[in-house]
Amino acid sequence: MAFVIDGKEAAASVISAVTEASVSLEGKTGIKPGLAVVIVGEDPASHAYVNSKGKMAKQCGFNSIQHTLPEETTQEELQALVDTLNADPAVHGILVQLPLPKHFDSDAIIQSILPEKDVDGLNIANAGKIATGDLDTGLISCTPAGSMLLVKRVHGEDLSGLNAVVIGRSNLFGKPMGLLLLAANATVTMAHSRTKDLASVCRNADILVAAVGRAEMVKRDWVKPDATVIDVGINRVPAPEKGEGKTKLVGDVAFAEASEVAASITPVPGGVGPMTIAMLMANTVIAAHRACSLPVPKF
Ligand code: GUN
Repeated sequence: MAFVIDGKEAAASVISAVTEASVSLEGKTGIKPGLAVVIVGEDPASHAYVNSKGKMAKQCGFNSIQHTLPEETTQEELQALVDTLNADPAVHGILVQLPLPKHFDSDAIIQSILPEKDVDGLNIANAGKIATGDLDTGLISCTPAGSMLLVKRVHGEDLSGLNAVVIGRSNLFGKPMGLLLLAANATVTMAHSRTKDLASVCRNADILVAAVGRAEMVKRDWVKPDATVIDVGINRVPAPEKGEGKTKLVGDVAFAEASEVAASITPVPGGVGPMTIAMLMANTVIAAHRACSLPVPKF
């Protein structure tokens, strides 16, 4: 049976280091890291995510600011809010919760966030830094950063000689994850829906990262014996065994069967999920240190 990588515990250790850095920054400068989270519309899942981000920000000693805008907000109104937050020196991090309602040009909004306040790491300036191997001066997208931290807990800093396969090529996750693995010297394959014989590509992976958004797609025979498996999927599926109409969360990996083959595996929930919020807090405290021209803490 595989070792189950405890994302909750890893996240708690990041949060504790972030809190320490935040308290120390306030002690030195009187400045609290400020995180502004913007949510538009009524989507309950998005509201749940945003609430937990706000709660965690307070727990880290941040100034947590939430802007909740109605569904019918216009592009211009949302843009005006982002412009105000960009100009506000008390705000060090800005996150616009995605997806935005359909009538928005999301990319225009996201790209207008100043790179130094882009704690989601989605601005092309931050994405470009990862692509060119600069992992020190920008902000790294939270889910890939959190997934990397879990990989490094198993394998250490240097992944030389290891084959890594990332399934999924999104800008939010797959691409930056592939680039972070490459920066750590892994030999990286970015696989996706058009990859031929995906199962056999995956079977070559010492580190297999799944981010496809399809419940339990990665089966036992996709996993190389003794591989490390990082499951980024969060899929809600019916769970009739819990009662009529009940649901449960599962990843992109068939956990029970894959854990009979892998050496280490992240569970869903409790794996990568908690790391995403922890790295958002880490990015915010890093941005606040940079704004004060102080050396940035490492996580
Ligand atoms: N919606 C789901 N995950 C994320 C995320 O990491 N960042 C933003 N901005 N929106 C999301």
